[in-house]
Amino acid sequence: MGAITTLTRMWLTRGVRPFTFTDENDGRLPYADCERLGLYIHIPFCRSICNFCPYCKTIYRKDACDRYIDALKREIRLVGAQRGGKTRATSLYFGGGTPALAADRIGEILGVVGEYFTVTEGVGVELHPDDVTPDVLRTLKAAGVTKLSIGVQSFQPKYQKVLGRKPVDAKALAAALAAVPFETVSMDFIFALPGQTFEDLRADADAALACGANHVAIYPFIDFSFTPSGVRPMEKREKRALLDAITRYLTEEKGCARGSIWTFASDAEAKYSSMTRENFLGFGCSATTLLRDQFKVNTFSVDEYCKRVDAGRLPTALTTRFSRRQRMVYYLFWTAYSTRVDAAEFEEFFGVPLKKMYGAELAIAKLLGLVTESGGVYEMTLKGAFYYHYYENFYTLAYIDKMWNVLRNDPFPKRLTL
Ligand SMILES: C[S@@+](CC[C@H](N)C(=O)[O-])C[C@H]1O[C@@H](n2cnc3c(N)ncnc32)[C@H](O)[C@@H]1O
Ligand code: SF4
Repeated sequence: MGAITTLTRMWLTRGVRPFTFTDENDGRLPYADCERLGLYIHIPFCRSICNFCPYCKTIYRKDACDRYIDALKREIRLVGAQRGGKTRATSLYFGGGTPALAADRIGEILGVVGEYFTVTEGVGVELHPDDVTPDVLRTLKAAGVTKLSIGVQSFQPKYQKVLGRKPVDAKALAAALAAVPFETVSMDFIFALPGQTFEDLRADADAALACGANHVAIYPFIDFSFTPSGVRPMEKREKRALLDAITRYLTEEKGCARGSIWTFASDAEAKYSSMTRENFLGFGCSATTLLRDQFKVNTFSVDEYCKRVDAGRLPTALTTRFSRRQRMVYYLFWTAYSTRVDAAEFEEFFGVPLKKMYGAELAIAKLLGLVTESGGVYEMTLKGAFYYHYYENFYTLAYIDKMWNVLRNDPFPKRLTL
């Protein structure tokens, strides 16, 4: 598995240089020249911890959460003050953990963000189904939140049991969402669970659309090495049949648009994706920042995060400086999440035609039936989307799993090579 990702990286970056991260921290995030900048804020608190979940999170305590949010506001000010005036940002997503647990402080955080940034495409927040009550939704709406993402995982008690979670009350969700409507209501599901069939997934998607979602995210189950989940991943062939069947059902029978590799929207305006940005600034522990030539990740330790920021320093743990080819591969990998790559946007970003840099790879992808091209826009086929999914799993285990595992155990590692 490691060999596949290493060889692919060497081929696409035309070099042997691995991604090397160091503890350099010059206190600057040069985002002035970044167009289409996205913002991300991490809130790492949950009521209980799910055994399959790899994210940076800890059990909620009000005092710890309040201290953390004070530090978060300070970090936003440290970064925001590096530029004069207000910076235009596309979207702002609060992820976690369960950011809705801090619903009563989201407005205050948005106030600080608004001192430095103008967000043009809305604000999204992740919720656990237990947080979907009219009171919480009203608080979020009054704060300026426009999009919700609810971690349902499955409406079927048998799969909630497999995941170690309790059943979700679809009626209560529907009632709360009808009482306090939002522009985008997305629901997360996990697929490729043991024995899961197309009928199971279809029932989940139907129930989501019936109870007020206009966007669904269907994530393949990923078995991270450091999570204590006992769930066994599904075989490749079965997984592909399931993904193709649910994609066909949602796009052909339900008229949904595939907005990204995992997401389907029943309303063309509904969008929820913090991943497909060319550049982004991340705030909070474990948050990542992607700029023109570098990628950074903050410390995973809530305590060390607060201490660093209280001392007036950025909480960056690791930084990598990209070679140009590495940055291109990174760009293509993340923009491909949207299932399309626009050659004109690539050229605008890098100042060189996509065909000149990756003409041979694109021709092979077309020949293999992985992409189609029309007017310089490359669209993934069903087959292409499956292989992207499949390869992404290797990437996640070879790079993200390794990096997160190091950062879970060491708040400020000296060096990391991937
Ligand atoms: C931060 S959580 C969502 C918000 C909230 N904490 C909750 O669990 O309802 C983000 C989403 O990641 C997905 N996820 C978590 N662990 C996963 C795994 N091992 N494989 C695939 N998807 C996973 C779940 O669908 C989850 O809803
Ligand atoms: S899945 Fe959600 S609720 Fe469960 S531990 Fe992860 S972030 Fe927390």
